Amino acid sequence: MRFITAATVLLASITSSTFATPVLQELVTRDANGLIDNLRSNNLSRLADALAQNPEVTNTIFQENSKKYFLAPTDDAMQKLPDWVTQNKTILQATLLQHVLNGQFDSNKFNTYPTHTIGHSLLKSNDFVKLPGGAGQAVSLARGPQGAFVAEAVNNDTMTSATGSYDQFTIQPISQAITVPGGLVATLRYLGYEELLNTISSVQDGALARQLDEMSGITVFAPTNRALREYADTDPNEQDLATVLGQHVIQSRVVYSPLLTDQGSMISSSGQDIIFDQASGRVTVNGRSAKIIQSDIICSTGVIHLIDTVLSSTNLDQGRALQAARSAQAGVSNSQAASVSGPVDGTNSITSQGNSVPVSQTSGYSTRNSTKNDDNAGQGQSGFGNNNNNNNNNNNNGNGKNAAVSINVSGSLAGLASATAIGLALLL
Ligand SMILES: *[C@@H]1O[C@H](CO)[C@@H](O)[C@H](O)[C@H]1NC(C)=O
Ligand SMILES: *[C@@H]1O[C@H](CO)[C@@H](O)[C@H](O)[C@H]1NC(C)=O
Ligand SMILES: *[C@@H]1O[C@H](CO)[C@@H](O)[C@H](O)[C@H]1NC(C)=O
Ligand SMILES: *[C@@H]1O[C@H](CO)[C@@H](O)[C@H](O)[C@H]1NC(C)=O
Ligand SMILES: *[C@@H]1O[C@H](CO)[C@@H](O)[C@H](O)[C@H]1NC(C)=O
Repeated sequence: MRFITAATVLLASITSSTFATPVLQELVTRDANGLIDNLRSNNLSRLADALAQNPEVTNTIFQENSKKYFLAPTDDAMQKLPDWVTQNKTILQATLLQHVLNGQFDSNKFNTYPTHTIGHSLLKSNDFVKLPGGAGQAVSLARGPQGAFVAEAVNNDTMTSATGSYDQFTIQPISQAITVPGGLVATLRYLGYEELLNTISSVQDGALARQLDEMSGITVFAPTNRALREYADTDPNEQDLATVLGQHVIQSRVVYSPLLTDQGSMISSSGQDIIFDQASGRVTVNGRSAKIIQSDIICSTGVIHLIDTVLSSTNLDQGRALQAARSAQAGVSNSQAASVSGPVDGTNSITSQGNSVPVSQTSGYSTRNSTKNDDNAGQGQSGFGNNNNNNNNNNNNGNGKNAAVSINVSGSLAGLASATAIGLALLL
């Protein structure tokens, strides 16, 4: 039992992770030692050692007296951490913080893969995370036939044994440590989405790629390599390329899979409604539809959902795109972002469509003015497209041997590129 209650009131007014008085630091150190002892007595010694050697991390963990879900890498998992993590204190500390989620989670209630339950970690440093409102990085959790796991882009980190608890912490051992997500472009490259990268990079001599990479709070529907090759085979008009790419991006919104059903209105960077159908797990823009084949790939600035077809609509409405982005941006609240705790859902999320969203283009779909996404709130636990078995990403290809999509975009600066430029200018 902690007796830090009085101190917690004071702590609330301290914003940095360095503590104002030796007394407070002493209380935190005592709590940290309790946690470390608990881990050690539960066969999690290497994690305990890492925490003992990094008081910056325990200071952050104990900054707020609230429930936490600690994904605790086993000794084996800690031992397998690569050198580039263990030998750089900054990266090691970020990695440790990515394992501590805000709030309470129950692995028996995780969404069933391919959908996920999403939590936000205590990793907030701007060097590693650029989410709206200064929110902590997301972590994807799911259940499959083999039980519960942390779902990373290419790994499942299995939850190995029963949870333990210490004070406000639920401690869940995992078989493999979580990797701190990289930027959008780095993540796409790591996953082998060469066709998409080449296509984005071809716009404005790479300026679009740089803009996208820097945007804080982004949802990207990323077509597979095969989807982009099929699109290129249709001999599209190069003038439309930026607009088409823009249909795949939502600015200033981070729409994790539990929010796809609870999202309010989704409007693309080319200003078109993006309609999600829960039963089929498909997204549609002006009649161009794609199936989501892998959801919730986390990157430092937002989330990527892999889709099997290019959303090839060439309709562009920059005013609408801009209004949607501004509305979402204005709806971001630092205190809301910081208070997201437990599974993300319509009322417990860092972004929403905001209060001045454009009216829906599509009849029968409600678009609302609200800083919540709670129209048909599914408690962040509802799945989608579960009747389809083809959830594997067959198109990951990291070897870069596929021919690049060759679409000549010189002179084509329409759509996303200019909309994004305007958007960035206003939002920064
Ligand atoms: C502790 O971990 C080691 C190696 O990771 C394993 O061999 C051993 O069985 C574990 N002990 C307990 C009590 O879980
Ligand atoms: C450690 O990693 C950080 C973040 O990537 C980097 O800025 C820093 O230069 C690295 N430090 C060393 C000593 O390599
Ligand atoms: C993760 O687990 C799910 C559910 O069992 C499985 O379908 C998927 O292929 C696994 N992914 C990886 C990368 O192992
Ligand atoms: C939301 O409010 C804005 C500004 O008041 C208005 O222009 C817009 O039409 C409203 N949108 C909806 C969907 O009601
Ligand atoms: C791209 O198109 C422009 C203008 O239509 C043309 O001048 C240029 O040669 C083309 N580039 C390639 C690589 O085809």
